[in-house]
Amino acid sequence: MKNDKILELKNVSAGYNGEIIIEDVSLEIFENDFIGVIGPNGAGKTTLIKTILRLITPYSGKISYYFKAGKSEAPIGYLPQVNTIDRKFPITVEDVVLSGLLNRQKITKRFSKKEKEKVKELMDQMRIGNIARKPIGELSGGQMQRVFLCRAIISDPELLILDEPNTYVDNKFESELYEILKKLNEKMAIIVVSHDIGTISSYVKTIACVNRHVHYHKSNIISQEQLDSYNCPIQLITHGHIPHTVLESHEG
Ligand SMILES: Nc1ncnc2c1ncn2[C@@H]1O[C@H](COP(=O)(O)OP(=O)(O)O)[C@@H](O)[C@H]1O
Ligand SMILES: [Mg+2]
Repeated sequence: MKNDKILELKNVSAGYNGEIIIEDVSLEIFENDFIGVIGPNGAGKTTLIKTILRLITPYSGKISYYFKAGKSEAPIGYLPQVNTIDRKFPITVEDVVLSGLLNRQKITKRFSKKEKEKVKELMDQMRIGNIARKPIGELSGGQMQRVFLCRAIISDPELLILDEPNTYVDNKFESELYEILKKLNEKMAIIVVSHDIGTISSYVKTIACVNRHVHYHKSNIISQEQLDSYNCPIQLITHGHIPHTVLESHEG
């Protein structure tokens, strides 16, 4: 199976108000990738994601996109960190998911019957079909995650980016989520940010460790020595032959 490059960062530095948060990042992403992004709080994980999404403009370096023309109207699906979502925004579950299909033409056009059916099918599959008409302000954290995951994947993106999807999610949905992602990875590249890679290390194929700089490991196994040399306050534990990586507690 071919595995084309879809995205490349070359010596990218970015941040806010002139301050550098991520520095000299070079990274290639391919269509079959399933990358776990780890690192302590405030390390710049979300900043890296926002840079890839073009929500912030790099100070220096270059980002190249190689998405296939006509394949998806929204080539990157994005699940933001839930604590950044405005719950007071007066919009229903169904509308949030539908908004994942918005593009330039749709701003004046109505959604088709086929699109609405696709949304319904996905919501049922994610078990939020029963709350389709609820305003998002009334949802639990776990329900919010599912709603925004549906929104991120409804356009069949080429790259799906999830920022801390396991926050607020109950254990049952967490393992379900990773099974869903594993399935989606047959069709799209996935980047999943987590400060707790315990569960994800057995699902992801590679690991990027962020701490101002990005260290990319072309494997889902990472040694304690490697982590120490990157100043990542993360500790490895092993159950049987499956390595688990967990975050040590740290200040701030
Ligand atoms: N919008 C912003 N304006 C200014 N500084 C920010 C902004 N967002 C994040 N930062 C700062 O950038 C640093 C990295 O933040 P972030 O990328 O959110 O880290 P992480 O996702 O790894 O926890 C933090 O010190 C944070 O305070
Ligand atoms: Mg973050």
